[in-house]
Parts: sequence; structure tokens; C-alpha cells
Amino acid sequence: MRIVQICSEAVPFAKTGGLADVAGALSKALADLGHDVTLILPLYSRFIAKCGVDVQPVGEPFEIPLGKQRVLIRLKRTQMPGSSVTVVFVDQPEFFDRDGVYQDPITKADYPDNAERFMAFNRAALEAVARLELKPDVIHAHDWQTGLVMALLEGQFRDWVPDLRRTAAIFTLHNMAFQGAYPSATMPLTGLGWEYFTWTRMECWNRVNLLKAGIVFADQLSTVSPTYSREIQTPEFGHGLDGVLHDRTADLTGILNGIDPQEWSPAADSHLPARYDFDALETGKATCKRTLQERLNLPVRGDVPLLSMVSRMTWQKGFDLIGACASRLLERDVQLVFLGNGQPEYEDLCRHLASAHPHKVRAVVGYDETLSHLIEAGSDMFLMPSKFEPCGLNQMYSMAYGTPPIVRATGGLADSVVGATPETLNDGTATGFVFRDHDPDQFWQQLDWALKLFADQPVWRRLQRAGMSRDWSWNRSAREYVALYEKALTRRVS
Ligand code: ADP
Ligand code: GLC
Repeated sequence: MRIVQICSEAVPFAKTGGLADVAGALSKALADLGHDVTLILPLYSRFIAKCGVDVQPVGEPFEIPLGKQRVLIRLKRTQMPGSSVTVVFVDQPEFFDRDGVYQDPITKADYPDNAERFMAFNRAALEAVARLELKPDVIHAHDWQTGLVMALLEGQFRDWVPDLRRTAAIFTLHNMAFQGAYPSATMPLTGLGWEYFTWTRMECWNRVNLLKAGIVFADQLSTVSPTYSREIQTPEFGHGLDGVLHDRTADLTGILNGIDPQEWSPAADSHLPARYDFDALETGKATCKRTLQERLNLPVRGDVPLLSMVSRMTWQKGFDLIGACASRLLERDVQLVFLGNGQPEYEDLCRHLASAHPHKVRAVVGYDETLSHLIEAGSDMFLMPSKFEPCGLNQMYSMAYGTPPIVRATGGLADSVVGATPETLNDGTATGFVFRDHDPDQFWQQLDWALKLFADQPVWRRLQRAGMSRDWSWNRSAREYVALYEKALTRRVS
């Protein structure tokens, strides 16, 4: 199949979270299955300059309309490192030559022209498909930043470009909490008429809603875990769009993300001081733990349980539960490490815990790729008490690295972690610790249970090994996406 992926971020070019991991790894996995894959991204020149890839111009520059303005677009091309995926960049320096992807990294405020930036990107991406004559069987877009692609394809490009009439349109929902909802005055920027500004199309609470545009106009929809696909059809998780999703239940599939073994495998991870697999688990992991403690200036001790968290610091991730359980946890002989940035109150919470417990807690506020790998490898337990979690990648990374996660049973966390109980420990299926409700006592019970099991090292090893031996590769998920593409194509042709 000829497949075009359109996304606002992708590893290794630009990343703010799991969306980038998925866009990069899924594209590579589809190419590895023999498909012809082109990934279209904005050219964030300041990030891409650091990747060491050779980016060349392709095609002629062209202009697109954006409301009353015309915007000049250049296309650039490169090859995804280690893969046959072609990457096409939309180069528009005024929009994308900035220090952040969505936000100013200093003020942490969203860029005020994000509607313009991503609406222009969506139209330019479809122009690129047409001008470079990609003739795709499938166009697959992700999250609100590319929702308009689905509406523009249906409302304009299928009419204008005969090659796109039978192209299947797939839209993946990675997070319903972010919808790209803008004032009605931005409607003319979409280039679509006001007849699209209705409740059955892309209007929601009198705003242009780009996520909704993706949901309404795609042929098939997916989300990043089976549990999240059910959750988002309820008011609690649908963030106002549960009714719209309800109407599309028959076209909505949950496909669990995978992990990219080139980036996240303890046996091949170039960020680690020692690599290890199942057989060298004890020695390799001990070296990583020592290096982590040294790097963070924590007491170097093999026997102390080291718990960690690598996360965007937002309300989604359950930092309130960390705050509620911290004093009970820190009465025990433990070490606790945080890496992340985001909402100031959670950054402050972690900093405060670190200054109040200098021998036990470290908080690294910032973004650090190498440290995130060392933390996965050097910790004993990984914390993800999320309020909601569409899929979550860190719990999978931690299981692959022999670091059992402690998670709340929501979204992809529920679908990927098997909680330790006497039965699952007995039959060898347990891979971590799971609590049900967003409740500090339930979280604490699992923390306490994990610390008890850690003291019984033979049992702990079994838990680690069960997680490490599960297949988290993208191969499985990529095949599920191919089946979804085939379903959408069959419907289009018939
Ligand atoms: P989300 O996409 O909601 O942030 P995921 O678990 O899907 O959650 O993915 C988060 C990704 O971002 C992981 O690859 C994680 O390692 C990475 N990450 C998050 N915060 C940081 C940070 N401060 N430094 C390095 N990597 C981070
Ligand atoms: C979103 C979700 C996260 C998911 C990621 C990739 O950022 O918050 O749970 O893993 O997308 O699909």
C-alpha cells in the first residue's frame, strides 16, 4: 500500500510526548512490512537542524490561501534514519522556525497563532500529496493538529484531485483532552464554507473544533488502546465529544501502541552504561542503578527500592495522588526520582519533595532524553497513577526494562499491565501493580504491596522477567493498522 502519515511531531525530528514516538515508530513498522510510507511533518528547523539529517528541497514553492492571506510554502525531503520511510517537511519559517512546537518554552503559553499554524500545515500537507503525486491508498492523520486534513480531503481535495477519490482517510485519537477548539472567527482560515460550521460537522460550543472535524470526516477512526476506545464514549472521558463518537462506534477501533526496539530496548540502548537482556538482568540493571544514583547524587545503594516517574507534569498524570501518598511512602526506606516538566504546581511539588528529603528524592525539572532512558533502566519501579491514559508508552518501556510499573487501571495502562495478585504471581502472568480508582488509599495499597514483593527478590525477578518477555514490538500493532486501512479501502471502493 502507499501510505501517507500526517502528524505534527515525530521521533527523531521533534517530540513533545508519546505522539512523536508513535508517528515515528508506526511509520517505520509499516515500511518494514513492505509498504511505501511517506510521513509529512512541519519543518521545525531549530529541532531538525540537531538531527544530522540531510534535508533537500523537493518540488516547486507554492502559495496556499489562509483566510485573506496567501502563505508561501516550500517542501523539503529526507529519509527517516534506519528506514525506507520518506519524510516530507512543510517549510514555513514564520510558523515553524521557533523554539517550541506548540508552546513558548519560557512562558509555557500556547502560541497565539496555533490555529493559523496548523490549519496552514494541513492544507499544505494535502497540497504536497497532490503536487508530489504521491497517489496514496491511505492518508492517516493524528490528533487535533491534523483533524482539518480529514475535512479538507472530503470537502475539497477529493473533488480537485482525481487520484484522491478512493484514498482511505484514517484518523487516530491520541488524547481527547486536546481538541484544537478556536473561536468561530477562525472558520474562514480553514478555507471551508460556513456550511461546515454546524453541529453535525466541525462546530462545537460555537467554536471551530479541529478534533471533531477529524472524527466526523474520517472513513475509519482509531484510538490508542481498546479500553480508551470504550472510555471516550462516556461523558467522563469524551471531553464533550462522547456523543459524536457514539455515532461512529461502528467505525472506531482501539489499537494498542507498540514500542520501537531501535529506541527502547535494554539490550541495544546506547544511552545506558551497561546493556542487558533477560539473562544479564541482575548485573546490567545494577550497573544502571548505580550510574543513576551517582548522576543524581543519591546514596549509592543496590538494596534500596528506587521508584521513578518520567512524565509531562499535567493533571492527566495523577500528580495529586503522588502528593497525597508521598509522606507515607517517604517514611519507608526508598528513593524517589522525578523527571518532567509542565504545570508549575506539579513542578513545585516535586521540587519541594526533593528539598524536604535530600537523601531520598531528586526532581529533574526539564526534558532529557538520555536521562529518561537511564531512569527506565536504573529504577526498580515506575509510577503512572494517571487520571486517564489513552495508551501510555512509559509503562511499556518500563516493563521491557525490567522495571515493574505501578499504574491505575485506565486506557492503555489497563490493557498492558497485569497486576500482581496471588493468582497472577502464581501463574507467572503478573507484570506490575494495578489499582482501580483515582484514590490515594488504593494507590498506597499497591505501593505497599510492591515494596513487600521487592523484599522477596526471587518473586521480584519473576515479575521483571514476565514484563521483559512480553512482545511490545510495533509489528503486532502495525498489522492491526493495515487491517484497518484495508477495511476503509474496501468500503471506499464498494
Ligand atoms: P504522553 O504522550 O501523554 O506524554 P506517553 O507515555 O505516551 O505519554 O509518552 C511520553 C513520552 O515522552 C515517553 O517517550 C517519555 O519518555 C517522554 N517524556 C516525557 N517527559 C519527558 C522528559 N521530561 N524528558 C524526557 N522524555 C520525556
Ligand atoms: C497521548 C496520550 C498517551 C499516548 C500517546 C501516544 O499523548 O496521552 O497516553 O501514549 O498519545 O499515542
